Amino acid sequence: MDAFTLQRPMGSTRQDGPGRRDAPRAADAAIPGQGASAAHVTAEEFSIYYGQNQAVKNVCIAIPTGQVTAIIGPSGCGKSTFLRAINRMNDLIPGCRAEGLLTLDGQDVYAPRLDVVALRTRVGMVFQRPNPFPKSIFDNVAYGPRLQGIRDRARLQGIVEHSLTAAALWDEVKDRLGDNAVGLSGGQQQRLCLARALAVEPEVILMDEPCSALDPRSTARIEDLIEELRGDYTIVIVTHNMQQAARVSDMTAFFYEGALIEFGSTRDVFTNPSEKRTEDYITGRFG
Ligand SMILES: Nc1ncnc2c1ncn2[C@@H]1O[C@H](COP(=O)(O)OP(=O)(O)O)[C@@H](O)[C@H]1O
Ligand SMILES: [Mg+2]
Repeated sequence: MDAFTLQRPMGSTRQDGPGRRDAPRAADAAIPGQGASAAHVTAEEFSIYYGQNQAVKNVCIAIPTGQVTAIIGPSGCGKSTFLRAINRMNDLIPGCRAEGLLTLDGQDVYAPRLDVVALRTRVGMVFQRPNPFPKSIFDNVAYGPRLQGIRDRARLQGIVEHSLTAAALWDEVKDRLGDNAVGLSGGQQQRLCLARALAVEPEVILMDEPCSALDPRSTARIEDLIEELRGDYTIVIVTHNMQQAARVSDMTAFFYEGALIEFGSTRDVFTNPSEKRTEDYITGRFG
């Protein structure tokens, strides 16, 4: 492949709805202490600047395939900036630029000829505030597949049902798929946004404080979903909620002032951190 197009691996055929996870990975970097797990997303000496301000500083990390990685750290430490770098959402911000290497399945995400639309199909995102389109529930979920050229009504229906089921929303909305999504509750909207992300069969799902606008019950539902999606997807979640990080993640990355201070299994980071700053943060001494 000469032009870097970030195509799905050869031989993977689309099924209607989430669940296809048989694609081979260009598994290279093994994760220390993680046995056979391979890295899905890696950063090497990766930095992001907003003009003169270096918001992410020389980060090196290997995010394992099929696991949940939590990014924690005080406000303004670069968590969202790093997360958005993974599917190049920062490209939309004037003056923002990246340095160093960031890879998805071993491919350089910032390669000049990269197909950013294809990248964002493989790396989906759920934001802090649910942001459904002011369209029907059906059209929200069918949006991505339609952009991919899928027109067949029955096929779209299959994808919508699969995706809403995977996002644990199907039973609540199956009789009103034509209703405007804006009328759903906040928690339902966030699950809809997750269904919308799942509908294009991403490999990686980025979540930026996905529960911070939700009540405890809706938060618990999202956490349950993360648990269910684990294994089938690589999930990277930014959270300011330490309990949430401890509950949902396999790996935890602690960022401070733009730098990755510590990265390891969630158990180790929370019970036996190797850095004093990590310990101070998780024990609530600052942040
Ligand atoms: N769109 C932006 N334009 C300029 N600076 C930004 C922008 N977004 C974030 N920053 C700056 O980058 C740094 C990291 O921000 P952010 O990634 O949002 O941190 P966090 O998500 O950890 O709270 C902060 O200094 C913030 O002011
Ligand atoms: Mg943030």
